[in-house]
Order: sequence, then C-alpha cells, then structure tokens
Amino acid sequence: MTSLAEPSVTVSGQHLAQRNERLGTWVEDVARLTLPDRVVWCDGSAREYQELCDLLVDAGTFVRLNPERRPRSFLARSAPGDVARVESRTFICSERQQDAGPTNNWREPAQMRAELDGVFAGSMRGRTMYVVPFSMGPVGSPLAEIGVELTDSPYVVVSMHLMTRVGAAVLDQLGSDGDFVPAVHSVGMPLVDPDGTARADVPWPCNETKYIVHFPESREIWSFGSGYGGNALLGKKCFALRIASVMGRDGGWLAEHMLLLRLTSPEGRDYHLAAAFPSACGKTNLAMVRPTLPGWSAQTLGDDIVWMRPGPDGGLRAINPEAGFFGVAPGTGETTNPTAIAMVASDTIFTNVALTDDGDVWWEGLTERVPDHLVDWTGQDWTPASGRPAAHPNSRFTVSADRCPAIAPDWEDPAGVRVDAILVGGRRATNVPLVTQARDWAHGVFLGATISSEQTAAAEGTVGTLRRDPFAMLPFCGYHMGDHWAHWLEVGARLGAGAPAIFAVNWFRKGADGRYLWPGYGENSRVLAWVVGRLEGSAAAVDSPVGLLPAPGALDVTGIDVDPEQVSELLDVDPAAWLAEADATAEWFETFGDRLPPQVAAELTGLRQRLAERL
Ligand code: GTP
Ligand code: SPV
Ligand code: MN
Repeated sequence: MTSLAEPSVTVSGQHLAQRNERLGTWVEDVARLTLPDRVVWCDGSAREYQELCDLLVDAGTFVRLNPERRPRSFLARSAPGDVARVESRTFICSERQQDAGPTNNWREPAQMRAELDGVFAGSMRGRTMYVVPFSMGPVGSPLAEIGVELTDSPYVVVSMHLMTRVGAAVLDQLGSDGDFVPAVHSVGMPLVDPDGTARADVPWPCNETKYIVHFPESREIWSFGSGYGGNALLGKKCFALRIASVMGRDGGWLAEHMLLLRLTSPEGRDYHLAAAFPSACGKTNLAMVRPTLPGWSAQTLGDDIVWMRPGPDGGLRAINPEAGFFGVAPGTGETTNPTAIAMVASDTIFTNVALTDDGDVWWEGLTERVPDHLVDWTGQDWTPASGRPAAHPNSRFTVSADRCPAIAPDWEDPAGVRVDAILVGGRRATNVPLVTQARDWAHGVFLGATISSEQTAAAEGTVGTLRRDPFAMLPFCGYHMGDHWAHWLEVGARLGAGAPAIFAVNWFRKGADGRYLWPGYGENSRVLAWVVGRLEGSAAAVDSPVGLLPAPGALDVTGIDVDPEQVSELLDVDPAAWLAEADATAEWFETFGDRLPPQVAAELTGLRQRLAERL
C-alpha cells in the first residue's frame, strides 16, 4: 500500500482537525486507502458553498438556473442508473446475523471489510477527498450526534451543507475526545487507473456496482458507487436512521422515519405530531400542511427523520436531526404544497427535474399547464407528446430548512418538543380506513408494525407493489425488526401515562372508480383536528375491530365535496378482507421467529377474534 506521505497529496484546512486524534488518524487511513490527489477539510462557510457550486457548474454537474427566475439555484442531472436508493445493495453487517433480522441484507463483517478494502482501494485517485464534519441535531444539543463524512463528491458536500450543520463549530463541539460516526463515501470512479492512465471526468460519476454498508456495533458507514440522496448524503438514512436506530436501541431512545409538526387549535393550544409514512407517501406534504379548517394553523419542524427520547417531564421529546429538506418534486404544486413551492423559490438544488426554455425548472404537478418544450431529466428534448415523464418520478429538491416559510421559529430548540400524538400510515388503495385510533400503546405498536404500502419510486423496485413497511422503517432499521417493536413497547412502558396517543391514517384509499376518496393535502387538517379532539377528549369515536374510528359526524367535512356516503366508504372495515389481511400478517410474523414480541402476537390474535365476531 502507498505510504501516507505521498508527495502528491495536498491537504488544506487541516488546522480544522484541531486535536481530535482519532479523527486525524482515520482521515489519514482513508486517504491512504482511497489515494485522493487532495484532502480538503470543510469549514461549512457560505464561501465554501459558493466555490463548490461554481466548481460543479464548471464540471457540468450543475446547470445554473436563471437567476431572475430561481436565484442561487442549480439543476443536477444524475446518471440514469443512479436515481434512487438501492435497497438490494444496502447491508447491515452486525456481528451476528440474527441481529440484522429477516428484513435486512446481512453480510459477515470481516468478509465485508475485506470486500470494501478492495473496492475503495484507489477509488478516489485523481479526485479531492472532502472532510465534512456534521452535526445531526442542533450543535451541542443533548439530543444531537456528530458524524464526519469523507467524500469525493462535491455535490454531496454542498448537499450536506443544506441538509445538516457542517463545519468548524462541529469540530469545536467534538473537541479532543468527542465521539463521531465515521462515514466514508466514494462515487467509485477514480480519474486515474491503477496503471497511471488518466480518465476524463463525467458530469455524474458513479459506479454500476454499489455498496451502502453499515457496521452497527462499531457505528461505521461505508458507501460506494452512488452519488444520489440517501445513498450518498450519509447523515440522512445511513446515520440518522440505520446507525442511530441502533444507538437508540442501546440508549433507550428512538430514531424514526417521521415528520414532525406543530398544530395549533382555534383555541390557541399547541400539539406536536410525529408521523411515520413510507418514502414518497406524504411526509413533506403533511409537515408543511396548510390547514383548510378555519382557525387551525401548523408549523413545520421536520419532514423525514425524528429522534425521540423520554424526557425529564415524563413525555417523549423529539428533535429533527436534519437541517434541510430533500423532498420529492413531482406532485409538489401550488395546490398540493404551496409552502414547499415558496420554499424552493431560490437557494435550491434540484436533481433530475426538467429544465424550461427560460432556464427554470419544471416537474409533473408543478403547474396545471404543461410547457410546450422542456429538456427532460436525461438532458433530451421533451414535448407533451414525448410519452415519458419530463422529471424523474424520484426527482428531488434540496433546500435548507430556514427557507421554509412555515418552519417553526423554535425549530432548532436543543430541548426539542413534546410529542402528543404519533401517526403511522401508508399508501393503501383498499381496506385501511382514513383514520383509526389505537386502543393503547401496544395496539399502536401493532398498527406501526403492520403498515403495508404500495411501493413508490424512492427506491429501486416495482412501483405499486404492496409491501410490508413496518413503522416506514423497512429499509432503515439497523437491527432486527422484531427487536425494534420490542424496543417501542419498552419505551411505551417507560413513558406510561406520558406516552403519546397513536393513530393510523391512510390518505390513499380509492373508490370503485379508481379515484381517491379523500381530497388529501390541506384537507388532511380535518383528520388532524379529529386526532386533537381525541387528545382533548372532545371528539367522538366508535369501536371497530381495527381500532377507534370517528363517530358519524365527528369528522368535519363541511364545505368540501365529500358526502356522508364517501365518509363511510373511507371508514369502512370489511371483516372478510381484514381477516385475509390478518392471515397474511400471521404468515409474515412467522419470519420473525422468537424475536416477535408476544404482545405484538397477542394483538394479532385479538384482531382476528374481533373480526371473526363481525363475520
Ligand atoms: P421521502 O422523502 O421519500 O421519505 O417521502 P415523503 O413521505 O416526504 O414524500 P412526499 O411528502 O414528498 O410524498 C410525495 C407524494 O405523495 C406525491 O406523489 C404526493 O402527491 C403524494 N401525496 C402527499 N400527500 C398526499 C395526500 O394527502 N393525498 C394524496 N392523494 N397524495 C398525497
Ligand atoms: C426516502 O427514500 O425515504 C428519502 C429519500 O427520504 S433518500 O434520502 O434518498 O433516502
Ligand atoms: Mn424518507
């Protein structure tokens, strides 16, 4: 192996490393393995951001958008094979296979380390390796955690600037003996071959072979071959969910795939809601909901990840560990999410959307009028007659949270907020009611455990296929899913009377004509109002085999085009269909063996009994 003192390696900003020995040694070790030309320590400054954006424009990765239409904003087009998370190449390398569980890809850690040594050897040749220190959560918050990402992608660095807190303050917080999660990322396309031959760069370097690897015991992340989203911005899914879920299991807290929202009632009372929906199932939309119900208002706290911990007041305290939004573009429009539209008016990085003739962006659902001509996400000319989407279905905007007009003024409060209600849900055309309240915590855990959802474009796979996605964490839980449910039960037991109420929601139920039965978006505030009514004891509910449903008339549908018949269709529970669903659940539960918590099994038994009585 080449010695570290490679004469050609230039290092800048190393003074930032200060005195954390473990950090310095690790950076040197990774440089010795990956052989970059340069190592740059990032300070997180606005100047650094601008310089890297300029560099990305020069490299052809970024198209600078028309500054009059979309100030300080850019469009990136990824390689067509690097457009979403790759679950089949995502690995949990726990010491014991049984700790990864049946829902994760497991590899023996030593074997994976040897494999990674092979793929990372020289993988940054000819490139710059950036050292990106970041904090998940407000710097210094008792709920925050520090990570350092080493990456050869400037696109990743600028994205991390928007999505996390990056820079010198983080290193100050780390100090000489602070702990951090090491995260190594390479696009896997060195610019110099092992024989010394130079290779030209491309706008979106990546590798056909991808690895998204987690070592939960040593809290390490290694990602190779992709530059996109959760594959590459390692603070997000890899750290804040997969590694943090393990930290939470060991430390008595929860890292969840949830939005976080403050809802204020007409009487001026604040409620905090966390909601777990699978990828591209409406978290960003609900996080930025503009209530249509008179007197209600909402503020955004987070749209993708929540860390929650029992607090000193006996409640569950939550923070959003992120500092920005990586949101799905298609479907985001003035009528569905006006807050997001205002948010991305400037200072935004767009990836895989279409480019308009006047240098702005467009995607399906942005405007009702479809432009006559665009350059699509693959860089080709596009017209409405092209017969293919102009923006990739998983195209995204990346923007700092402080651009969000609805962001809560105290969103960076290190103490977080107290969670009053937890919502779980998925995309279900049939069976699942618009809203159900869990009878108690254990029933709520069962509702979370049994979420299933029609698959979206956020990951590789067949869109529309119904799959289990427990707690919307199927691709994100860093340990055995059965243990995750047991952990939820333990947290609930610790909270006791201070535990939030749990509800299941489904905005996506369809009628016989194949159309959505519920208008969704801002009208979802009507469901939230019923949820708050349940917390306050003012909203009426009726019992059903699957949980508590809004009593007739309890859901406020005044002024919208939803008749009482539609409401009963939305809330209908068909015992036969549900029994079939319960049979499928029983079969799936078997794959968990003795890691299935007995309380969760008991909930299924109870459900089947209640359904059988209604047949
Ligand atoms: P990730 O960022 O992938 O974790 O997803 P997310 O849950 O934040 O997804 P997002 O909110 O961006 O979901 C986008 C998709 O959900 C778009 O197709 C929206 O049109 C659709 N959507 C969101 N809310 C509603 C709703 O209330 N009703 C209906 N019918 N569709 C909705
Ligand atoms: C998701 O897929 O749930 C996302 C997008 O939030 S990514 O960051 O790419 O995972
Ligand atoms: Mn997500």
